[in-house]
Amino acid sequence: MPPMTPMDTPEGAGAAPAEAVAPLLRGLAVLRRLTEAGGTLSLSDLERATGLARSTVDRVTATLSRMGYVRPDGRDVTLAPRLMELGNAYLAALRLPALLDARADALADELDESVSLAVGDRDGIRFIHQATRRRAMSLSFRIGDLLPAERTAPGPLFATEWTDADWRRWRARRAADPHDHGFPAVPPAERPAPDADFERRTARAAAEGWALDDQLIEPGLVAVSVPVRDPRTGRVACVASVVSHTSRHTAEELREALLPRLRSAVARMEDDLRTAPPPVPGAAPSGLATWTGASKQELGREFVESLARGLTVLTAFGEGRAELTLAEVARATGLARATARRALITYEYAGLVAPAPGRTFTLTPRVLSLGFPPLSRTSLPQIAQPHLAALADRVQESASLAVLSDRPAPDRGETTGPGPGADIRYTARVTPSRVMSVDITVGTRQPAYATALGRVLLADLPEPGRALGDPRPLTPYTVTDAAELARVLERVRAQGYALTDQELEEGLRSIAVPVRDGTGRAVAAVNVAMHAARRTLEACVDEILPELMETAGRIEGDLRVAGRFRRVPLT
Ligand code: PHB
Repeated sequence: MPPMTPMDTPEGAGAAPAEAVAPLLRGLAVLRRLTEAGGTLSLSDLERATGLARSTVDRVTATLSRMGYVRPDGRDVTLAPRLMELGNAYLAALRLPALLDARADALADELDESVSLAVGDRDGIRFIHQATRRRAMSLSFRIGDLLPAERTAPGPLFATEWTDADWRRWRARRAADPHDHGFPAVPPAERPAPDADFERRTARAAAEGWALDDQLIEPGLVAVSVPVRDPRTGRVACVASVVSHTSRHTAEELREALLPRLRSAVARMEDDLRTAPPPVPGAAPSGLATWTGASKQELGREFVESLARGLTVLTAFGEGRAELTLAEVARATGLARATARRALITYEYAGLVAPAPGRTFTLTPRVLSLGFPPLSRTSLPQIAQPHLAALADRVQESASLAVLSDRPAPDRGETTGPGPGADIRYTARVTPSRVMSVDITVGTRQPAYATALGRVLLADLPEPGRALGDPRPLTPYTVTDAAELARVLERVRAQGYALTDQELEEGLRSIAVPVRDGTGRAVAAVNVAMHAARRTLEACVDEILPELMETAGRIEGDLRVAGRFRRVPLT
């Protein structure tokens, strides 16, 4: 792995300004190295990749871990979903995802092809949305991935607005890194195209209003792009692309067949931008009190306050808060003005904040390089896993996550499935290191009506939609009577948890609570299952339920951050 690349700092920036906050720069370096590595590194690889001393790496990771941004895992460090709140601050301030994602998704559905939105990021392009229908044989990019402008379809459209200085920077970068090693998201360029090719493509894009990528990134991958213009300034706000594969369309076919539909979708996007109400400034989210209110003793000797305070500055930005003055940043974060100022100087040097009109500051797309690409692929089971592990460890019983799932079609002479939601399917599971434990693996199905997990999920559905299947007694204790089951589900709904006693299997007890998304829907359930001999029913409620609720709350918190600008896969 290369040490600090020139991508870390504005080129020619040389040494950091005297007022830059060194611990903040180190924290940023750690987050970016972890991001480039795909989300996980061992502490010794992190030491090598950042060039920092081991004791420094330890303090930085302890601080980031305390903030919920990374997770220590034995000798490894892994990025945690909460880190996405930094990229979310940029995307919320930008506002384009909130206004345009649904149109991009609808176009992807209409064309049955992938559609993406990208913004210009210096001499590269960075994705802010992906509606992926990617098939075999082509790589697919993630939100936050940075690509060299000249190897993409959006690139020439952004380059139509480049200044002389932008072109100089681009030429210098190509001369310094002809094979694109500074762009980990793309395969290296084996035979870099001459600069004149991109200049020609840019002139053509200016004349035609669209641009193509005919396998510039990898063989087979083709794209056509159209700019989405800001109605107020007329400048390119972002670029919408339709992406396909030569097994489906050549680049020319893509242009002929799909460009007209892409253009009308973009016209609708521009209408949406024109008619959007002014953004509503949200309250500045701030975890600051945690770092300023807590004593050094509580935070631990390893905790680096200047790093935590500095990171908080990024979360001062958001919807309706795209451009903030120094005074506004200080007020939103509760930081002293001098502290906020030094953090902003540090971020400007690192290319994460840029000066904006009227002595304000704004976030740059590079904020997405702090964890977004790997984390934007995280599924609910992956989000839940560490929280289930902590729960299983605390209560010394197995803990699971499950979703409602249609019963599979009767393809092997099974009886007809009773409709949607009749089963639960386990999507994550952690067993404490104890010899005797309830034996279930991920993917296992069980009838929803007889399990605590299933009852919690069924209780959240409107009554007519509840598929109870065809309840059969699985033990002498199984509730099968429809009216009684309806009463049980009402109770579950009212009390917020389900407790089953040997209804699925003799000797097995289970207690479960829902995991709700931002809209309040129960998208999954978590449970603790145990042998009846281990705890009385009362002890299940007294001892396990509070732990279970806390675990569900943590999973929900992560899900809200991870799901703010994308759909988190539930399985
Ligand atoms: C993509 O969205 O993956 C994409 C867009 C434009 C390109 C290549 C890939 O030129």
